[in-house]
Amino acid sequence: REVRDGCQELNLPDSVLRQCMDKLRAQIDLGLNPDTRDKSTVKCFNTYVQDLPTGKEKGQFLALDLGGTNFRVLLITLNGRHFDMQSKIYVVPKAIMIGPGEDLFDHIASCLESFTLEHRVANKNLPLGFTFSFPLNQVGLKNGILTRWTKGFNCAGTVGRDVVEMLNAAVEKRKNTLKIDVVAVLNDTTGTLMSCAWKNHNCKVGVILGTGSNACYVEKIQNVIGFDGDKTKPYVIINTEWGAFGDNGELEFIRTPYDKEIDKNSVNPGKQLHEKMISGMYLGELARLLLVKFVKDKILFGGQASPALLEREKFLTEYISSIESDPRGVFKQCRNVLSKIGISDPTDQDCSNVRYICESVSRRAAHLASAGVATLLNKMEIPSVTVGVDGSLYRYHPHFHNLMYEKIPELLDPRIENPTINLMLSEDGSGRGAALIAASGSEHNV
Ligand code: BG6
Ligand code: GLC
Repeated sequence: REVRDGCQELNLPDSVLRQCMDKLRAQIDLGLNPDTRDKSTVKCFNTYVQDLPTGKEKGQFLALDLGGTNFRVLLITLNGRHFDMQSKIYVVPKAIMIGPGEDLFDHIASCLESFTLEHRVANKNLPLGFTFSFPLNQVGLKNGILTRWTKGFNCAGTVGRDVVEMLNAAVEKRKNTLKIDVVAVLNDTTGTLMSCAWKNHNCKVGVILGTGSNACYVEKIQNVIGFDGDKTKPYVIINTEWGAFGDNGELEFIRTPYDKEIDKNSVNPGKQLHEKMISGMYLGELARLLLVKFVKDKILFGGQASPALLEREKFLTEYISSIESDPRGVFKQCRNVLSKIGISDPTDQDCSNVRYICESVSRRAAHLASAGVATLLNKMEIPSVTVGVDGSLYRYHPHFHNLMYEKIPELLDPRIENPTINLMLSEDGSGRGAALIAASGSEHNV
């Protein structure tokens, strides 16, 4: 009961989730108008992507995928319904993640060079789609001004600059060996939406629940004030950047002392507050802070913590997924995880409490994400929508999908009749999406 009471502040009833939705909707509306965007925490960037895939895209494309757990370079062949993808993961050393921007783009160009040489396409001037999963104020399909870093990246001298120009400058240094044509820059949410829409044309929302959290959706251009894309087309994908929701205090009514602690210790205090309550980069640490609190209150492990439990970021988000994968009343994975952090011989009651704490953290994240998706669906007013989802949290957590699948319909506007909402896991990452957008943005799509 003490654990239950202590976790109560993580329990968000529907009435509270609806308040979050109203606030999020208000920020989205501000973000969609260039005159008020500055005041909004949810920037709603135009992606300049106005067509969903037709299935007729053709050609060979390169893609870069930067900003998730893995940095990947990809070579993709599209030919109608046929799709082939080769890819390689490259490490981005921590020193580069927080070093000078020039080093980051040099590193990307060097990985691109070695990949294209390996695949014998280094000199083919292939069109490239750059999935760059940080907030970009896009001013065209292949122009994006970096507005801030998120998720542990922080490279000096880059905010306020066009990331495609920085990539091109780094590629130019290798012009004797490397010739590519960057035709599009996109967010991972957009890549996910496009990748899923290629398989399921009903996909109109893209969500990432991974290291970070964000969503994009298909918006009518008449709702985008001052729209400067192709006005003959009815729709455009909007990258909400909802991870920054709360940065003006909108979420203070639900933030807990644990959320404040996480934020204080992060590389970007005061920023990405919604993301810090939802995404994989933070959930393990949130759970750890709760565990420590209950140990200090002598409710867990006889009041004895281990050194690892007291160390920041030692309780990984994947531990939450393992612990919650045990069948009810079984604590095999739970004991296994606890032994990894130096807690031996926990009692069954301890294990049950640890699981309850993890579930509270996951449930709150899944419900906040559901409230976000429901806000977009209510705005779109379409009864039948597929939501493409990617990210390690959603992919590997044993209950995240079900939690969202149950919660989203409960939060939909009752005026939407007979809603059918599907959550579709993106199986191929956002690489295919990058290629599809590159195809639409290049004359190589013949
Ligand atoms: C990958 C996508 O599958 O998922 C990336 O290809 C995306 O574009 C990533 O950023 C998000 O998940 P995570 O868990 O790697 O941050
Ligand atoms: C962060 C980034 C955003 C990205 C998300 C998921 O919120 O700012 O651009 O989509 O993480 O990777």
